Amino acid sequence: MPSSSLIPSDSSVLLTTAGMQQFKPYYTGKADALKDFGSVNVTSAQKCFRTSDIESVGDDTHLTFFEMLGNFSFTVSSEASSEGGAGYFKKEAIKLAYEFVVDILGVSPERIYVTVFGGDHEVPEDKESFNIWHKDMGISAHRIKKCGRGDNFWGPTGAEGPCGPTTEIYVASTAALANDSKGVEIWNIVFNEYYSKIDKTLDKLSQPGVDTGMGLERLATVLQGVPNVFETDLFHPLVSKIREVSDNIDERIVRILADHLRAVIFLVADGLLPSNKEAGYILRRLLRRILVYEIKYDIHADLFPLAIEVVGNNFGGDYPEVNNKKLIAGVLSEEKSKFEKALANGLKEIEKYKEITAKDAFYIYETFGLPFELLGELVPVKVKNLKKEDFEQEFKKHQEISRAGLEKKFGGHGLVMDTGELKVSSEEEMEKVIRLHTATHLLQRALRDALGPSAHQMGSDITAERARFDFSFNRKLTEEEIKKIEDAVNEVIGKDLPVYFKEMPKEEAIMTGALFFFKEKYPDVVKVYFVGPAGGAGGEPYSAEFCGGPHVANTFKIGKIKISKQESVGSGVRRIRISLV
Ligand code: ALA
Repeated sequence: MPSSSLIPSDSSVLLTTAGMQQFKPYYTGKADALKDFGSVNVTSAQKCFRTSDIESVGDDTHLTFFEMLGNFSFTVSSEASSEGGAGYFKKEAIKLAYEFVVDILGVSPERIYVTVFGGDHEVPEDKESFNIWHKDMGISAHRIKKCGRGDNFWGPTGAEGPCGPTTEIYVASTAALANDSKGVEIWNIVFNEYYSKIDKTLDKLSQPGVDTGMGLERLATVLQGVPNVFETDLFHPLVSKIREVSDNIDERIVRILADHLRAVIFLVADGLLPSNKEAGYILRRLLRRILVYEIKYDIHADLFPLAIEVVGNNFGGDYPEVNNKKLIAGVLSEEKSKFEKALANGLKEIEKYKEITAKDAFYIYETFGLPFELLGELVPVKVKNLKKEDFEQEFKKHQEISRAGLEKKFGGHGLVMDTGELKVSSEEEMEKVIRLHTATHLLQRALRDALGPSAHQMGSDITAERARFDFSFNRKLTEEEIKKIEDAVNEVIGKDLPVYFKEMPKEEAIMTGALFFFKEKYPDVVKVYFVGPAGGAGGEPYSAEFCGGPHVANTFKIGKIKISKQESVGSGVRRIRISLV
């Protein structure tokens, strides 16, 4: 199977983090692999991105963007009802993995040790895997380590999904190190036996399956006999280019630059644009870190075009999207010029301070767009006493002040406007505004259904006459698309779905996959507004968004809407107006 995009269709995760993500419905029986792929067993090389590893980038093995090789089996049944219908489970998966590493790739068995799940209060010890390794594969018991939940249990991706105990293969650079369990994990074999529900309880899957992941860069490190992922042929061309245009910079910085440059190119190639929220914000942070390093380490070259060239040549054969060099260069250079303007002004401001307090840092962020993290890179001495928590505290304070202001303004209506997007002057206007407000939630869902998950809210503004909705998207919508979106919203209105909210801790709300506008701006407990499912029971809601309200109680109350206008507001951002008819 080909790699899926880094921008997943599963809205409960911001970016694709694992090979199994595109196959989630096949483990639960929601989709039929035999019908769709002609086999219940597939393999892939998947583009992955993990924010969880950002802080570790610069060491020998961690990356943000990487390629993951995997083999997957969606059923354990060996009853081959037709060709491709027989799946496999622990015994075959372990045998396949071991034979691949030892017989095909030629890694010496002396260098290998493995781990298995040791069991806890909820999930039993995986004795079966231990026995397969020990008895069938001949691995001596001291080379089979038992580990707990943190290490040897994987999944789910996002808020819910398949998960289960794992067994992992490690390779050490020498046999002696393998004896001390000092190696690099190259292969994770997950036995998806459970389904983790939203409330984190586990159900047994009716059909267990196999999900494996082998980091290509780590595997290349082992096979090419080099000390780290950056010395493999996957990275070497880029790393040497960076060294060529910089003098005496720390090896760790070269590595971070190489990782981030490759990552941003792949993200943009899949259609992601820098923005202030969700995945777009992750991209912006990587981009701005590269730009800060360019300045800080006096790199006399524009790294973006150089990297686009090298990455295109190195990976364009397997991933043709990175050959889209002009488009990628356009997005990156625009972000660069935006940042340069912000930075020039911000730096002038920073000069005025001997020491930067949380309050100053917030002011600099709000006025010049320089994120807190960058102050540490730019002027470490001036922020040496500044803690991230204090900055966040300041952020919260500001947010409360602006919310108090809004409550006062809308006092008579008893409203709390978290986003400050409503403007009204009478009860009658308020009623229209509320209808349009719910309609914008439906609109966002319909837009994402029609245009893909890269379309997300960049802003909104609602009056009694119309709702304005800004979203990330880099071209004009066709007449057909507009029609489709308008029809989708009206169709949902016609279904008279219930609209309701639940209050929950922010982290939990994020896990439900509800859309949010700008993570950092929400309090610890948030309201999530849901639309549907019909009758309030069973099935997924049509829409879920962080929102302060207010909304109509049922979609039918909205009446009917039309899309009255579309326009562009700056690069990569489009604006749609809707009105009631
Ligand atoms: N899905 C498993 C992982 O990402 C294989 O490690």
